[in-house]
Amino acid sequence: MKGLVIYNSKKGHTKKYGEEIGEYLREKKLDTKVLSVAEFKEKDILDADIVFMGSWTNGMFLLFQHPDKKWVDFTRKLPDIKNKKVGLFTTYNVATGSMFKSMERKLKGKISDIMIELKSKTSILTDEERKRIEFVLSE
Ligand SMILES: Cc1cc2nc3c(=O)[nH]c(=O)nc-3n(C[C@H](O)[C@H](O)[C@H](O)COP(=O)(O)O)c2cc1C
Repeated sequence: MKGLVIYNSKKGHTKKYGEEIGEYLREKKLDTKVLSVAEFKEKDILDADIVFMGSWTNGMFLLFQHPDKKWVDFTRKLPDIKNKKVGLFTTYNVATGSMFKSMERKLKGKISDIMIELKSKTSILTDEERKRIEFVLSE
């Protein structure tokens, strides 16, 4: 099985969280790449079985959360990945609010169901999150 983690990060928190997710997938024996949205090329995704896509939370702290423009631009380059497992992730300070709904809207028509949503204030992948990822891998 192959994994792919794609992140959009301004200050490094989402990059770190993406790297933690990637490291865990490797622990679970998935051959995994971790790439920024700027590095991503369509061919990277074609042979992945599970894809995690993440952006930092942009909004007005309690309202109107959405992914940053760079992440939205990246989703336009995505091919149809309905045959792959998909997870979303974000880092935030106060509240993620409409973030996942907004991300999902941008991916509409390209993906099947979103199997897992992960959010973090610390960029550290917790044991509970590891178990949730493990469950998705086993499905
Ligand atoms: C312009 C701007 C808007 C933000 N809006 C929110 C928000 O609505 N809710 C929230 O919890 N955090 C918000 N944040 C905090 C970031 O989402 C958070 O610091 C995130 O971890 C940054 O990720 P990065 O280090 O990968 O860039 C905002 C930060 C910035 C710079």
